[in-house]
Amino acid sequence: MFDVKNKVDFSTAHEGVIIGLFDKHEKFGGSLAKLDEIFEGQLTELVKAGDISAKFKNISKVHSFGKIGAKRIWFVGLGKEKDFSFEKLSEALGKVFKAVKASKLRETAILLDTFITESVNELEAAHAVSESFSLAVYQFQGYKQKSNEPEKKVENITVYSENMDREDIQAALTVGLAFGNGTNSARTLVNIPGNLLTAKDMADYALKLAAKYDFEVEILDKEEIEKLGMGAFLAVNQGSTEPPKMIVLKYQGKEEWQDVIGLVGKGITFDTGGYSIKTKAGIVGMKTDMGGAAAVLGAMEIIGEIKPEQNVVAVIPSTDNMISGNAFKPDDVITSMSGKTIEVLNTDAEGRLVLADAVTYAKHHGAEYLVDVATLTGGVITALGLHTTGAMTNHETLYEQVLEASMEAGEPIWQLPLFEKDKERVRNSKVADLNNSPGSEGHAIVAGAFIGEFAEGTPWVHLDIAGTSTTSKEHDLGPAGATGVMTRTLALFVERFEPIGK
Ligand code: BES
Ligand code: MN
Ligand code: ZN
Repeated sequence: MFDVKNKVDFSTAHEGVIIGLFDKHEKFGGSLAKLDEIFEGQLTELVKAGDISAKFKNISKVHSFGKIGAKRIWFVGLGKEKDFSFEKLSEALGKVFKAVKASKLRETAILLDTFITESVNELEAAHAVSESFSLAVYQFQGYKQKSNEPEKKVENITVYSENMDREDIQAALTVGLAFGNGTNSARTLVNIPGNLLTAKDMADYALKLAAKYDFEVEILDKEEIEKLGMGAFLAVNQGSTEPPKMIVLKYQGKEEWQDVIGLVGKGITFDTGGYSIKTKAGIVGMKTDMGGAAAVLGAMEIIGEIKPEQNVVAVIPSTDNMISGNAFKPDDVITSMSGKTIEVLNTDAEGRLVLADAVTYAKHHGAEYLVDVATLTGGVITALGLHTTGAMTNHETLYEQVLEASMEAGEPIWQLPLFEKDKERVRNSKVADLNNSPGSEGHAIVAGAFIGEFAEGTPWVHLDIAGTSTTSKEHDLGPAGATGVMTRTLALFVERFEPIGK
């Protein structure tokens, strides 16, 4: 897919060549100067005349009229050098790759050194090239009899890089591609409807992943879940004809099973709300209620590819939330695996119930640090909108590591508080230790507080992706639909993780 060449040779035949353009360039430097020479100064003229624009994400396609080997040049505007970042580079690349794909080119070249600044080096740029490419051209196949997939795909990209070792660039491209592909796998899982992705299907997917990357795997069936006393998880499944699955994947990258990171993902394959049933409008789209599980599985795929020196246990409680004569009801009191009893006030607050037992089970598998990801509340959308993932924590130092990873991944998160008074609200039940829904005020926060009761003293970060896991609009790095949000953040977090003195 990606070839790396060390010498820029403008005579080599390509269908296209992609070139980055920063705002300040009155005159072209480096390989661009050579190019301008070949065009006898015409490119400089085009820039001056505004026909080629360096404005951020502006794309100007110029025909080469046989003056160079590439048939056309895609100039992509990068804006001001001082404002540049990895995130901006990714967006600009996403946009130009989409344009290349739309033009039905089968291959293109890219001049890597035209994208380098003080804030983005060659290796980061190489990572961005492969990651952005795979994210930008992603499509969900869907189920139409006639596929809407274009027949022509970009199959090869030649990356010219003058200043770096070929192998280093190739390695960075491979890692970037793993990040893109892992995110796309998460997107696909989220895009598949509930009838075609049951808890069993999710478990089968995890088994395949485990076989491919040599993860240790454990799939608990209903009987085993009962034996372990996961009453909160079971309550949510009670109305379903589809048995629940507790999915566990273990990746050991260190000699000893210590400093274990637990990644926990909400895996509700469809959320009707149960007896606290959703509205006709609110229920549509609830196939995406396993976005947290998808992010965890996507991150595990990346981890399997890049093999960091870390220990990770992934735990995914998977079931749908259905109605029947057997279903759990408001006012029911259930007993979680931790022993804590819960008064159910709202069966639609099911995510925190399945996560309660999953968090407890992650600790049983030795997790010393926990990050959970869940499409948990409409409340987080009210609080933060559709671009920002809500975060809560009981441990600021762990949070900082997650925050850093999220900023690097271009997946913004924002912290919401968990004060004593918020915790008191979930502890306020007349008949049980906890209640699962103390009212709609600040309900993203009380949902987080509820999960925190099960993390207890273990450092923990909660990520509510209800607003960010899908988008209704096409964007530079992907189509409308699932975003695969937090896949890259989790993988980067794991890769960079530094154990914290507890
Ligand atoms: N899966 C939903 C949250 C959700 C809402 C995800 C919109 C994606 C888009 C969750 O299980 C839920 O129903 N939450 C309730 C909680 C309430 C009952 C306290 C909500 O947000 O309304
Ligand atoms: Mn719900
Ligand atoms: Zn839900």
